[in-house]
Amino acid sequence: MTRVAVIGAGVIGLSTAVCLSESIPQCSIDVISDKFTPNTTSDVAAGMLIPHAYPDTPIHLLKQWFQETFDKLFAIANSSEATDAGIHLVSGWHIYRSDPPQERPFWADTVLGFRKMTESELKKFPQHVFGQAFTTMKCEGLSYLPWLEKRLRGSGGQVYTRKVEDLWELYGSYDVVINCSGLGSRELLGDLQLFPVRGQVLRVQAPWLKHFIIDGDRQTYIYPGAFNVTLGGTRQKDDWNLSPDPQNSRDILAKCRALEPSLQGAWDIKEKVGLRPSRPGVRLQKEILVQDGHRLPVVHNYGHGSGGISVHWGTALQAVQLVKELITTSKISTSKAKL
Ligand SMILES: Cc1cc2nc3c(=O)[nH]c(=O)nc-3n(C[C@H](O)[C@H](O)[C@H](O)COP(=O)(O)OP(=O)(O)OC[C@H]3O[C@@H](n4cnc5c(N)ncnc54)[C@H](O)[C@@H]3O)c2cc1C
Ligand SMILES: *[C@@H]1O[C@H](CO)[C@@H](O)[C@H](O)[C@H]1NC(C)=O
Ligand SMILES: *[C@@H]1O[C@H](CO)[C@@H](O)[C@H](O)[C@H]1NC(C)=O
Ligand SMILES: *[C@@H]1O[C@H](CO)[C@@H](O)[C@H](O)[C@H]1NC(C)=O
Ligand SMILES: *[C@@H]1O[C@H](CO)[C@@H](O)[C@H](O)[C@H]1NC(C)=O
Repeated sequence: MTRVAVIGAGVIGLSTAVCLSESIPQCSIDVISDKFTPNTTSDVAAGMLIPHAYPDTPIHLLKQWFQETFDKLFAIANSSEATDAGIHLVSGWHIYRSDPPQERPFWADTVLGFRKMTESELKKFPQHVFGQAFTTMKCEGLSYLPWLEKRLRGSGGQVYTRKVEDLWELYGSYDVVINCSGLGSRELLGDLQLFPVRGQVLRVQAPWLKHFIIDGDRQTYIYPGAFNVTLGGTRQKDDWNLSPDPQNSRDILAKCRALEPSLQGAWDIKEKVGLRPSRPGVRLQKEILVQDGHRLPVVHNYGHGSGGISVHWGTALQAVQLVKELITTSKISTSKAKL
């Protein structure tokens, strides 16, 4: 029995743990995390399946991760689990005031029915000259994380609340460690390539809104969900402030009302802040740490920045592949040691 520790209980840690339990049932899996739902960054995310590019991650990989995630969640959305898992289809518009994009986005063939908006659709937006319409999914952390956790426990996985100060704490108790600590990897490992991009959003009641609206560079958006509507947002690099900023909230509300005047009637406005774990590229890598002749196999899966929900299942599949490679290598080295 291979003993695996997964550090982190955001969407990346929990999905990697569930994916591992589905692919290698003869593993024992412990998720170790200092924060759990509803207190992770993944709980703040709107959870729209629209990926973001990372400068150092090749586009073909990103496309594959998004397709794998989309296929997995499409099957859930099409099942009786959909409500519990917090996944539903959603259609809407991405509109531009000027300068329509030169290229078709790399994810255009994965989402459903991607097309140019018609003149009559654009009549709703007198300030805008161009737009794209498509259908994608929304995967809500506040439902999806508990659902993943339940599945993990159902297959025998365990969950522990604890902050890991040093990976070597886990040596001896585990054969492989998977590091899904998001922004936490900066402090522990001193991965200085990792930086926060602060995001503040509002969650409001506006149950008449069913279509999403995204403006231009994706800073301003209206994302209707199952229970409330997410209004965004901000993208503040290197800002660690987790407290809501009232000026940010006023700006978000003003920008969203300019797109959708009916938001005048929204009520129960709540502010949420999260720090996106950003990096030039997602770190998906295996590594064997060595200290005093001891070997600790590690798989890293962190740094998903603004688009972690959109690619999580694809990166989980790749992390599991890396775990398989490590298990095979360590079996070979153990049998050599016996000889
Ligand atoms: C406002 C906002 C809106 C967003 N909207 C979207 C969207 O619409 N679509 C999309 O795809 N993405 C979106 N994102 C991005 C998405 O939230 C992230 O990419 C994703 O949540 C990252 O997941 P994660 O599991 O890596 O990180 P986290 O959710 O931060 O999880 C990290 C986990 O590691 C644990 N941890 C860290 N350090 C340690 C340690 N030393 N010891 C033990 N545990 C540790 C933490 O407690 C936590 O449980 C949004 C983000 C924000 C802020
Ligand atoms: C989330 O944070 C709140 C406030 O700090 C705390 O009371 C609660 O126990 C936390 N929930 C979990 C599941 O850790
Ligand atoms: C959707 O559900 C139907 C009916 O259960 C099933 O036949 C079909 O294969 C499902 N499609 C996907 C993509 O899961
Ligand atoms: C992530 O991996 C690095 C080693 O590359 C390690 O130093 C750091 O402590 C790890 N993070 C956690 C949360 O264990
Ligand atoms: C928004 O919906 C979530 C469920 O996804 C719920 O827990 C939360 O209380 C709602 N927030 C508001 C402001 O209604």
